[in-house]
Amino acid sequence: MSEELLQQVRLHGAVPGHVAIIMDGNGRWARGRRLPRPLGHHAGMGAVREVVAGCLEAGVEVLTLFAFSQENWQRPAPEIEALMGLLEEYIAREADELREKRVGVRILGDLDRLGTSARTAVERVMAHTAGGGALALNLCISYSSRAEIARAARLLADEVAAGRLDPAEIDEDRFARELYTAPWPDPDLLIRTSGEMRISNFLLWQLAYAELYVTPVLWPDFTRRNLFEAILDYQRRERRFGRVSV
Ligand code: IPE
Ligand code: IPE
Ligand code: MG
Repeated sequence: MSEELLQQVRLHGAVPGHVAIIMDGNGRWARGRRLPRPLGHHAGMGAVREVVAGCLEAGVEVLTLFAFSQENWQRPAPEIEALMGLLEEYIAREADELREKRVGVRILGDLDRLGTSARTAVERVMAHTAGGGALALNLCISYSSRAEIARAARLLADEVAAGRLDPAEIDEDRFARELYTAPWPDPDLLIRTSGEMRISNFLLWQLAYAELYVTPVLWPDFTRRNLFEAILDYQRRERRFGRVSV
């Protein structure tokens, strides 16, 4: 079934080079089964494996996943502990396979707020998979877009204060070079699961011209088939970037 869709994706032309996903709905998935919320997050790991495999199959070059926001630090401590434990479990289980498949993992966010063992795990997976050129996998953890933008402004201000940068040189490209996402082009396609019609402080700068795709599917139920459907929908869009149709 997913093979057929993949064929269609290939026939339809340009695959989005960069896909970003707000992975939402784990809690509702668990509630629907009368399970504790952490089991929803656990089930969500299967969907991460699916989209990584799907992106490799379809030829997507960059996949950026919103896994934990700075606002999520306000959740109950046991849920945060469960999420951090799952992050470590994901890394322990997947690091070798990611490396074999040449997936290069980067973690974007305020890593200073992570505990020692989560911090060690994320540094290990980045080092272990460094240079993987088949797919760049960005995991946004303790990430907030406004904080990222404020940080970029601070870094530029430091350069100006040190006399290394003329304020007149600060344009959009120079600014974007201080964002965590500097190495990659902006997302072409943003997917949000669980039906919520909002951005929730994710990649505000980078999503300027992304195509938006919201699906009611809850994140733990999301498969590569759903990813290919989103890509097919994207391929039917006309991206005008403010110009008129040709
Ligand atoms: C997404 O699922 C995972 C994180 C935000 C960490 P949620 O936990 O937000 O699930 P819902 O939105 O409560 O269903
Ligand atoms: C956004 O989901 C953050 C992640 C998916 C990590 P949330 O569930 O935290 O967002 P809101 O609260 O519905 O906006
Ligand atoms: Mg949510």
